[in-house]
Amino acid sequence: MLNTKLLDSAIKIFKGTSLLSIDQLTRAKLDVLYALTDDIVANPTDFLHVADGKIMSAIFYEPSTRTSSSFLSAMQRLGGGTIPITGVEFSSVSKGETLEDTITTLSCYSDIVVLRHPEPGTAQRATKASQVPLINAGDGVGEHPTQALLDGYTIQKNLGKLDAITVTMVGDLKHGRTVHSLSRLLSNYKDVKVNYVSPQSLRMPKQLMSQLSSSGLSQTEHTDLGSVIAETDALYVTRVQQERFKDDKDYQAVKGIYTITPKLLKKAREKMIVMHPLPRVDEISTDVDSDPRAVYFDQVKNGMYVRMALLSAVVG
Ligand code: NCD
Repeated sequence: MLNTKLLDSAIKIFKGTSLLSIDQLTRAKLDVLYALTDDIVANPTDFLHVADGKIMSAIFYEPSTRTSSSFLSAMQRLGGGTIPITGVEFSSVSKGETLEDTITTLSCYSDIVVLRHPEPGTAQRATKASQVPLINAGDGVGEHPTQALLDGYTIQKNLGKLDAITVTMVGDLKHGRTVHSLSRLLSNYKDVKVNYVSPQSLRMPKQLMSQLSSSGLSQTEHTDLGSVIAETDALYVTRVQQERFKDDKDYQAVKGIYTITPKLLKKAREKMIVMHPLPRVDEISTDVDSDPRAVYFDQVKNGMYVRMALLSAVVG
């Protein structure tokens, strides 16, 4: 039986609202969404008709495997229909149509629009042109709020909490929108310590760090992973974002700089989890996949469930 109480509280909070930045969400709202996600994981068939008759358009101006397919799968598992546009070159975008006109058009056909775009701030721009709620599925180096939702859910599920934990983020913290959104999400919780491990050229943006310190998040920067691995509860590994570099020489200088191996994990806690938003290139050796601490494919699955929760709350 569908737990309508949980769904109703989620609908009360999210119905008709766009999700552009993780900053829109408070801890109380996250709690409701995560409780609904738990319910979907436990009773997925109860949700088969929650989005009957609703349609989601998903337009991706940048490559995607997980985010696009999990949104499509999520909507279909709720009984809704989908309009997927992943090859924008085959849409009127290639005829020179503006983002605004494209989004207005899609919003005429659908009840919700999911958008990924290479320029930061595009989701904000697009939401003005949309007649229906819009979800930011990644805006360049800006944010990726639904990834942070699934990352937070995965941490809570595996560590049992989001308070009083140490999260180490490693890799391309300058261009990685997933770490920008995840650290914003973590700032809602108590006694969270975040270690940022990156080469000098790929440090976390200063402006974001100062915004997060004013909200009470404890943050420190490092270049060496070895110095913080032993105190880490969640190790969040990211890909060096080759497509964001203007000069390939700069990419070549930092590519492959950190690789997680079984040898490195010997220094880590037995209960630490290894996370990655994926796709990975060479940051995590495939030998790590069989380590029970590796949860990156759990993140993939959780992404679908968290998106089911969000979609059912926004259009349910
Ligand atoms: C990430 C992204 O697109 O920002 N992938 C994802 O959505 N799971 C990470 C990446 O591309 O490196």
